[in-house]
Amino acid sequence: MESFRNRLDTKKVPKHVAIIMDGNGRWAEQHGSSRIMGHEHGVESVRSAVEGAGEIGIRHLTLYAFSTENWERPKAEVDALMSLFVQAIENETDKLMKNNVRLSAIGNIAAMPADVKANLDRCIDRLKENTGLNLILALSYSGQWDIINAVKQIAAEAANQQLDPEKINNEVFRKHLSTSGIPDPELLIRTSGEYRISNFLLWEIAYTELYFMPKLWPDFRKEDLFEAVVDYQNRERRFGKTREQITN
Ligand code: FPP
Repeated sequence: MESFRNRLDTKKVPKHVAIIMDGNGRWAEQHGSSRIMGHEHGVESVRSAVEGAGEIGIRHLTLYAFSTENWERPKAEVDALMSLFVQAIENETDKLMKNNVRLSAIGNIAAMPADVKANLDRCIDRLKENTGLNLILALSYSGQWDIINAVKQIAAEAANQQLDPEKINNEVFRKHLSTSGIPDPELLIRTSGEYRISNFLLWEIAYTELYFMPKLWPDFRKEDLFEAVVDYQNRERRFGKTREQITN
């Protein structure tokens, strides 16, 4: 069968794709190894997804790497994930540089351990002039955290009379989110057969197409990304309007 890569319309590639990388633990269980091993194998999938996104000209790729709720996991797993982030960021920077990838992060980065933050800052700084794919890592992130954060800033601006509460609208609100300046994702992919959003980009996915696949994250490769994009390209996006309004 023809590959999904060949079937996709290069003129209709989504600008922003977001991924909930789920199933590392189940993958490990199926392979008789530790959860940490599952996460380690997940790094290869991240590599492939980033490569694939760059190849087809996706502009922004947001990966849900660590949620606000993930802090509740056993300390050994949290520590191992933090080391994995440091290692992966360090090991991949040269390749990201070569591929013209820019890096950014959303979430409560201040809550990350100092070594993760330092590494991340260094890598972001080294890649900041790149003009290709923008790889966005969601770390210590949740959609509700981001919304509350925005509300706090807006309330403070209103309290000191910098902002008239009557003027608060979608545009003002989104400027206060950590995703400000990034277009909303047209496509959100979740692996591992779970049909949930799990506190990911809540505000930003109002009209996003959702794509759920049974594969566990460590088995995900760029061809799976291409398959999701082909599926997305066959959908009709109406944004609440009628078919006639969209086609005319
Ligand atoms: C979800 O699987 C996965 C995570 C919480 C961690 C994601 C991290 C990586 C893929 C590592 C590398 C990432 C970067 C950006 C370098 P799960 O543990 O919830 O799986 P389960 O539901 O099967 O238990």
